[in-house]
Amino acid sequence: YEAIDPVRFIGNHSSGKTGYALAEAAIAMGAHVTLVSGPSSERIPYGLSEFVRISSAEQMQQAMETRFDDCELCIMSAAVADYRPSEVADKKVKKSEDVWTIALEKNADILQSLGKRKAHQKLVGFALETNDGEANAKGKLEAKNLDAILLNEPGAHTGFGTETNKFTIFTSDNNSVELELSSKQELAVKTLDLLCDNYF
Ligand code: CTP
Repeated sequence: YEAIDPVRFIGNHSSGKTGYALAEAAIAMGAHVTLVSGPSSERIPYGLSEFVRISSAEQMQQAMETRFDDCELCIMSAAVADYRPSEVADKKVKKSEDVWTIALEKNADILQSLGKRKAHQKLVGFALETNDGEANAKGKLEAKNLDAILLNEPGAHTGFGTETNKFTIFTSDNNSVELELSSKQELAVKTLDLLCDNYF
């Protein structure tokens, strides 16, 4: 969420379900899991090593950057805001004008900056695409120096807020695997199995 004033923000429809499902699946596999979460009404998984609640992209970046050195596998499923209001009003903005224009400035790309300083870590991102999915996902895999990317194409039973999803995983060694429509919990288990087979 990117604040406009003390009572308003710019956000998106992400529910956090995929990130929470991945955290739960990783705990069940015996991993020490840190979950850095933006606003979500999902139940916090039992057994986390650490839970970090953040709101804005800047807060998420700080939380990720300070923990990255100690991490073996980092999965960025968050729908991070690409832009934030250039100015945040300290008092509620009154509706005096007929048209309200809000200037936005670009947020840092957290995944890209983690990709730049990656050493021993395996880094996995998501690509949310409405068109040219494969080309865009592969472009992001390379541009952000990732080990794998999960292509997510929103539809009737897939994407934000739904209980189910499907995606294609592209890895940096040029493999791809399609995961069929299933619950976000099942997908999380299959994704981690696949990443572990490939990298650990
Ligand atoms: N991401 C990030 N920081 C941002 C924006 C995105 O770390 N400021 C991460 C997301 O968590 C995801 C990946 O980058 O793992 C791709 O996000 P996506 O929204 O698909 O693409 P963008 O890189 O933001 O590019 P665009 O919106 O132009 O498609």
